Parts: sequence; structure tokens; C-alpha cells
Amino acid sequence: MRKPLISGNWKMNTKLEEAESLVRAMVAELDSIDNVEKVLCPPFISLAAIKELIKGTSIELGAQNMYFEDKGAYTGEISPIMLTDLCDFVILGHSERRQYFAETDELINKKVKKALESGLKPILCVGESLEDNETGRTEQKITRQVNAGLAGVSPTSQLVIAYEPIWAIGTGKAATGKQANTTISLIRSAVANLWDEKTAEAVRLLYGGSVTSSNIAEFIIESDVDGALVGGASLKADEFVSIVRQTSSLKSIR
Ligand code: PGA
Repeated sequence: MRKPLISGNWKMNTKLEEAESLVRAMVAELDSIDNVEKVLCPPFISLAAIKELIKGTSIELGAQNMYFEDKGAYTGEISPIMLTDLCDFVILGHSERRQYFAETDELINKKVKKALESGLKPILCVGESLEDNETGRTEQKITRQVNAGLAGVSPTSQLVIAYEPIWAIGTGKAATGKQANTTISLIRSAVANLWDEKTAEAVRLLYGGSVTSSNIAEFIIESDVDGALVGGASLKADEFVSIVRQTSSLKSIR
């Protein structure tokens, strides 16, 4: 049985003080919810302070990116060995990194390998554009991103993949639960083809893109959807707590 996972991707939001207040507003309630892995991914500069605030709770931390070298002359970058002190997870290959920072499948693949070697659990993001979607190229695009992102990576259940259709991110136009499940099933098959059936069954696959407390149930009831990567709604304590709470109750009765 895969443990459901809800991760909040705060993106480039919250100053240190705001980050701390947001965590204070939800830490006790989040901690009390069982059967769901709860991961917060704040900006790098808030990780250390938040680690203190969540000490002794069941909440975990993730980073939103990292470089693939341990140290050296890479001005402005953050390395995996810096993150392992603070985080369990790292989001890699988010469509915003691909789009605005020119991250390629090859670069993302290096990061995935390095994260796993370093003991971080990668949340590898894949997703098709509106054009790909409208021209029937979703499967082809997603399969390519999965194969390229995982090239040369040994089978591991530590991997998490988030299916985030670009047209659904920050637009308020989420995919339907059925659409998400169809593509996520394709991702599971791609992982099974690349690795093996058993590992593919153990890897957690998330949906992301305009998830809120009003639509989370639609995704969570689907058999292949193991949780969500939540952007905008993770910046509101009551919203995020409600998403985690619904996930806990719906997955445990499935
Ligand atoms: P959103 O973002 O929930 O604001 O659409 C999701 C994401 O990009 O991870």
C-alpha cells in the first residue's frame, strides 16, 4: 500500500517571517493528521527556521530545486549536501524551471541521480503543454520526460513523480480526476517498462495543477493518484490543512 503524500510547493513566495507564521498557523493540525505524508517546500532561505518549527512533528521538508554538484564554484546554487541537513525531499524539473530557467531533461536527469545518491527523495515533475494536450501528444510527451528524467537511474521506491499539466498550473483550470488518473496510469506503465512492475507499484505518483480543498477529493479517490503537489492553495493554512485532512480520510476508506 502506497502512503499518500501531499506536498506544498510555496514557489517564490513568503519572506522569512511570513513563512514562519504560515507554519505556526498549521503545524499542530497537520501534525495530528495520520496516514498522509506531509511535506512543505518553502523557499531555501526559510528551510532552517521551519525545520526548528516542525521539530518533533510528523511534518517533513522539501526544497524546490538543487544543483547536481556537492560544492564548488557555482555561484548562486544550492547543493544536495547542504539540503540533506534540512530536507527529505527535493522538487526537480518543475515546469517553471524548465520554462524560465531552461532546464533540460538531461540536466534534470543529473539532478535526479544526484538527489538519490545523496539520500534525498526527488519529486520529479512532468507535464504537457496545452498545445501538446490539444494535439493528442500528452502520452508521447510524458513518456519522453519520464524516460529521460530516469535514464540510468536504478529502480527505487524513493522516487516520487508529480504529473502537472502546464495548462493546469496556477490557472484555476485543474484537470479532472479521470484525466489525471489516465495520465498517471500511463506514467506508472512507463516506470514499469523502464524498471519493473513491483517498483512501479511502489512509486508514488501525484497530481498537481490548481488543486484546492474544493477539488482534492476528485483526485484522491482515483486509484493511481497517490497525492498532490499543491502550489497556490498551500500558502493558505486552512486550505492546506483541509487538503491533507480530506486525503487522509478518503485514502483510508478506499
Ligand atoms: P498550483 O501550482 O497549485 O498553484 O496550480 C502547482 C505547482 O506548480 O506545483
